[in-house]
Amino acid sequence: MNHFELRDGEMFCEDVPLLKVAEAVGTPVYVYSSATLERHFTVLRTALSEAGLRDEAGGPPLIAYAVKANSNLAVLATLARLGAGADTVSEGEIRRALAAGVPPERIVFSGVGKQAGEIRFALETGISEINVESEPEMRLIAQVAQGLGRPARIAFRVNPDVAAGGHAKIATGGADNKFGVSFSEAERLYAEAASDPWLDPIGLTCHIGSQISRLEPMEAAFLRMRELVERLRARGLAVHRLDLGGGLGVPYFNQPEPPTPAAYAAMIAGVMAGLEIGLAFEPGRVIAANAGILLARVLHIHERPEGRRFVVLDAAMNDLIRPAMYDAYHDIRPVRPRPGAAAIADVVGPVCETGDTFTRDRMLPPLEAGDLVAFMSAGAYGASMSSEYNSRLLAPEVLVRGRDWAVVRPRPTYEDMLAREARPPWLD
Ligand code: LLP
Repeated sequence: MNHFELRDGEMFCEDVPLLKVAEAVGTPVYVYSSATLERHFTVLRTALSEAGLRDEAGGPPLIAYAVKANSNLAVLATLARLGAGADTVSEGEIRRALAAGVPPERIVFSGVGKQAGEIRFALETGISEINVESEPEMRLIAQVAQGLGRPARIAFRVNPDVAAGGHAKIATGGADNKFGVSFSEAERLYAEAASDPWLDPIGLTCHIGSQISRLEPMEAAFLRMRELVERLRARGLAVHRLDLGGGLGVPYFNQPEPPTPAAYAAMIAGVMAGLEIGLAFEPGRVIAANAGILLARVLHIHERPEGRRFVVLDAAMNDLIRPAMYDAYHDIRPVRPRPGAAAIADVVGPVCETGDTFTRDRMLPPLEAGDLVAFMSAGAYGASMSSEYNSRLLAPEVLVRGRDWAVVRPRPTYEDMLAREARPPWLD
């Protein structure tokens, strides 16, 4: 079921007409559907449970939502209420997760460059697991843990050296990527950590990339992870948890259909059969992407006599950077479709660089200046990657629930923007 649907010729988010949101809040604006967020989380949890996957205690596996995908507090709180954990990559994200009501024991902390202060904060907070990405990081964690007098629960992020397919900028599981330790390092470091009084190695983790549209690379990576668990156990080392990361792709319009959560879960159940291990997951996109749109207004239609046709929007690459950065495809739909023939256009924003192009040569339904359009599947890596480039104000965020809606991040004012900066004394 889709919670962004046309009703009587205009697009709604759940029971809220998008025209109403645009009128009240202005554009560009991100709009999220609570029902879609909840459904995605629940479908994934059900698929994992029905495939017989469990956590260490025999309960449903930990689903640590990847905060980076959409870190709005209201989005996090919506998921936290359903029992979601949080996969975080900075102190800021840990603080967001806590503020949204995610209990520390459901928070995991990943990332190749964690700083001592962040590690200290994570340990003081009592989060579930720190994912160790390198040997020097392991030493730093041990040192911080000793300083606090509190051993650190760690998992080793292993780089399974598997090509996940998809865009090179979001593949993470190859041996030449910066993420995680190799298999040989993992074996050596796990044994070392097990004999360090300040480290408590609970398991392993891997994450091979994002928007993965085939099960095979994941299956290959997970098999290697299983084999590593078996090798470690054969050496007498305890391995309680395998955190299989995120990465499951979503159906962006016109793109290859990704595997369903049920197929993903069944594949994992097959790979892990008989292993007796607690499983955890770090999904981001699969939960948030199709739960959000970016609503924008057409400023002009610029038709060059020589032939190119540009649809100029009030949204730009600073609001949604995925097309510029990954050549990502986002379906662009009119909020109130007009009768008439489709036509080819380039859709661009007002930012002063050619990269501020959302799409080229796209066949689009009829559009006129003043029309509203929705960038579909913009709930993940949309607002969370936005910036104020060109001194454009950050787009606000709205969360819908049934007939209700609320601004969950207001558009800042220009005064807010300027007030964050200061003049050095010598310029006064
Ligand atoms: N776990 C770790 C350690 C990660 O690095 C990521 C994403 C995830 C989980 C969540 O992956 P997901 O389930 O969302 O695929 N900005 C890019 C995507 C970057 C993904 C980075 N890591 C984009 O817009 O496509």
